[in-house]
Amino acid sequence: MALITIETSSDALRSGAKPSDEKAREYCAHLERGDILFIPGIPFDIPHDDLQFLLQQRQSGGAFHKNVAYRTNEDRLTGFAGENAADAERTRAIMRSYSQSATRLLSTLLAPYREDWKLDYASYRPLEEDGRDLSLHKRNDLLHTDAFPSRPTNGDRILRFFTNINPSVPRKWMTTSPFDALAQQFAGKQGGCPLPEPLGASTVQSTLRGIKQVARSVGIPITVRSPYDDFMLRFHNFLKENSDFQKNCPKDYWDFPPNTCWMVYTDMTSHAVLSGQYALEQTYIISRHAMVTPEKAPVRILEKMVGAALVS
Ligand SMILES: [Fe+2]
Repeated sequence: MALITIETSSDALRSGAKPSDEKAREYCAHLERGDILFIPGIPFDIPHDDLQFLLQQRQSGGAFHKNVAYRTNEDRLTGFAGENAADAERTRAIMRSYSQSATRLLSTLLAPYREDWKLDYASYRPLEEDGRDLSLHKRNDLLHTDAFPSRPTNGDRILRFFTNINPSVPRKWMTTSPFDALAQQFAGKQGGCPLPEPLGASTVQSTLRGIKQVARSVGIPITVRSPYDDFMLRFHNFLKENSDFQKNCPKDYWDFPPNTCWMVYTDMTSHAVLSGQYALEQTYIISRHAMVTPEKAPVRILEKMVGAALVS
């Protein structure tokens, strides 16, 4: 796993410079093998007053008691604890603008993906990560690969773009081997995390999935998980629960300085956030069909191990 710095300067990107098609494919390939793409700057405008607003709200004990999510498709904030409607509206406007800027940037840096992605949530993370009191499965400081319990991807990929807006303190991460190596080590009965059953192999599971699909089609909000999504969620929990792995696996440490950006496939790159406060983030769900190296996608790795389809 490596940290790859984008070659085009932030100033040039801000002025609209675009990498060549070949370079954009190269960046995608790096992400798909589990590398982190790093930008030593913020290549779009976040007005100074907006940054101060985000930073000061927390310091004054205001509206940011926890992470704030911005649901891009609904243009709606969740997790905003303040009572001041003007503050909520301003936060929403800042998040909307951040989401749009990040998306404009990635549509050139990662051009092969731009026709085949969905914008997931954006978030503002105002809390100090070091020492957060969270339940084991929610802890960010334990190494894991991401899986969304309520938003299964059916084999599509979770790409996250981060910006450290802390004016003086880096955001510190730790990583270990990427998903393909971890799956070789831990997926399967002997490794401790049983492989998924092939799609349609278990009558009980298929029937249950069928019932859920019908319920969903008539508007009952039920999550239908493919065998792939079910495994990814179990694997996320398995890694966090595995204290021997957490303690003894080889580790790399990364500092993301103030006013920098980075992006990573968090379903491929095992990661933990050790410390840091004040980050913005935008998540993309990238179609598995848009991969430039599809054989490296977690769904393909698992399907190869199982010898059958895991998504429909
Ligand atoms: Fe994560």
